[in-house]
Amino acid sequence: MSTTTKSSENWGSRVGLVLAMAGNAVGLGNFLRFPVQAIQNGGGAFIIPYLICFLIMGIPLLFVEWSMGRFGGKTGDHSTPFILNNMSRDNLWKYVGVFGIFTNLAVAAYYCYLESWTLAYVWKSLSGAFAGQSTEAVSDMFTQYVGLGTSEPIIFWVVCLLLNTWILSRGLSGGVEIAAKVGMPLLIFFGIFLAVRGITLTAGEAGAVNDGTVGLNFLWTPNFASIWDFKVWLAAAGQIFFTLSVGMGSIQCYASYMRERDDVALNAMSAGWMNEFVEVCLGAAILIPISVGYLGVEKVVEMTKTGGLGLGFRTLPYLFQQWGPLLAALAGMAWFGLLFFAGITSSLAMGTPVMGFLHDEFGWRRQTSAWAFGIAVFFLGLPTVLFFQYGVFDEYDYWAGTVSLVVFALLEIILFAWVFGMDKGWAEITRGADIKVPVFFKFVIKYVTPVVLTAVFLGSLLSSGGILDQLSNKALHAEITAATDPANLEFLKKKLFFVNLSRIGLLAVFGGIALMVYIAQLKRERDGRDKLRNDNA
Ligand code: PHE
Repeated sequence: MSTTTKSSENWGSRVGLVLAMAGNAVGLGNFLRFPVQAIQNGGGAFIIPYLICFLIMGIPLLFVEWSMGRFGGKTGDHSTPFILNNMSRDNLWKYVGVFGIFTNLAVAAYYCYLESWTLAYVWKSLSGAFAGQSTEAVSDMFTQYVGLGTSEPIIFWVVCLLLNTWILSRGLSGGVEIAAKVGMPLLIFFGIFLAVRGITLTAGEAGAVNDGTVGLNFLWTPNFASIWDFKVWLAAAGQIFFTLSVGMGSIQCYASYMRERDDVALNAMSAGWMNEFVEVCLGAAILIPISVGYLGVEKVVEMTKTGGLGLGFRTLPYLFQQWGPLLAALAGMAWFGLLFFAGITSSLAMGTPVMGFLHDEFGWRRQTSAWAFGIAVFFLGLPTVLFFQYGVFDEYDYWAGTVSLVVFALLEIILFAWVFGMDKGWAEITRGADIKVPVFFKFVIKYVTPVVLTAVFLGSLLSSGGILDQLSNKALHAEITAATDPANLEFLKKKLFFVNLSRIGLLAVFGGIALMVYIAQLKRERDGRDKLRNDNA
């Protein structure tokens, strides 16, 4: 038995790696989540905390995760349990690393469903399904779609899963990299087309009530009062995590397929800033200006109070119709096509850590582990599809897509800066670097980011509506107590049941992965691969 299972897998080119990493980060979060978060948190009030969180948490975590990943690649480790374990003599870190597999699986479970809506909506746009429909009719189409009025959502979802599995089974350079090289330029092209349309929209044109700039001003007029509102900071931090894919384990995995002396500093910055360009320049210039242009600020704010993610599906197809049939079909294809490319290059990034783990620890071949991922996502995702209206989807998003990221990021930065040690950490970040990383970041990574992360975590734990309130289902119980209509009461009780069930399910998945990590450790000890760690840490 060899001491390391060196993987033959590698990135084909630097451009391919950066595009794949950018594709990982650029996702539905940039186009659907960001605008809605910004609106819900007061438009201009959101931007300042958002940008500060990018600088003091986003960038440092990108440096940390990229270099941790490349470090793990040296010993043939491609998923966080053993990447983390190999950075310390303490054997417990591998269980912290469980997050980096769990989150990817659980996020993929609802994310792929969302991704499949975009595929269905490309089809609907091209086949003229929205032509001549009223605002309400277009909005209702979405309600019916997720309410499973037909089998269409299931079909598109399964197609989407198969597509992901197929691309993953072709490997990094033969699958993921190609998807990124095709998807990213198209996405940017479609994005620019729609953003120009959004910004140049003029009041009076095809029924628009506002210029496109009204929406932009709403977003970009800073509101300093909200700086003191803790909730806005939490939302901003959450968005930075989600959009950059930090605290997930997927960046570490992609980076672990680099070569030892490849640059991480410039690559990490390129992919990170590309994500911010797409989010802040394109993501902000489509959904908000167009919907505010036709509906006005108040109506849009109102719509994001209930079910924000649906905004882009409920409103834009109708608004596009006002531009005449040809442009409507093109805009619909561009918008949902862009969302699809954004989505798939991210869901592929969620598959890779799972596959890396199965390959490294259990020797599974690429095809087998790609299918294992596809099947796991199918079963884990099924409840989000079938019981969408009972809040299962949101429950997954909250625990896996929000809370886990902060917890994992906090623990990994402590490992990196304090256990592994900041001097060694700094050497990892700067080794082979094609830019000079400002020494200022050494200080930020060691002190500022961990402190801010701790504050964010404690805040989200204790604040009203935070983790503790969620755990005790405070809001839902209050709704149940206040409910008078028996049908509504029935619905709420069912919702409570499904919410609790999803948590138990997610916990079981976490436990299952932890068990596999434990078995992997025993295997390593038996094969004598465990020694490697102590020589390395
Ligand atoms: N960053 C992606 C987005 O903005 C989401 C993502 C989550 C990607 C987890 C990879 C892993 O949509």
